[in-house]
Amino acid sequence: MSASPIARNRVAVMHGVNLDQLGRRPAGHYGTLTLMQLEARVSDFGDELGLQVQFFQTNHEGQFVEELHRLEDTVDGLILNPGAWTHYSFAIRDALEIAALPAVEVHLSAVGEREEWRALSVIRDLCVATVSGRGLDGYRDALLRLREELGGPAA
Ligand code: DQA
Repeated sequence: MSASPIARNRVAVMHGVNLDQLGRRPAGHYGTLTLMQLEARVSDFGDELGLQVQFFQTNHEGQFVEELHRLEDTVDGLILNPGAWTHYSFAIRDALEIAALPAVEVHLSAVGEREEWRALSVIRDLCVATVSGRGLDGYRDALLRLREELGGPAA
């Protein structure tokens, strides 16, 4: 069943470096879906929750930054999985600050329970929430959180 749409309902789901390689990355951490399959499922979650979802992926940090610069007037909220950039890219952090949109950080894997360097996120404090270790379902959790942030009903 589809939810009735809320006024601010446009969400960009942004994937960073190496996420285009889903399907050939360690399944124990990332599952077996390709990015295209994952995006299709996230799009279904969006329909179910009354959110209009658009997608972006790049392996180039500057392109990720420029997309964040462009988004201000075209979407209401963000879901970000920047991949390894999460752990060290202050350029992406600064661009996220410039975008000034409510954002939820998502990781397929349990980043806090893996190598020490993955536990650090340089974007976390700019995000309204972080979801990790929930695989595909984490994106649904993130959409629900964002919907609440955008004035929709609480989960
Ligand atoms: C990831 C976790 C990162 O540490 C890693 O570099 C990725 C994917 C995740 O979705 O679990 O590329 O963001």
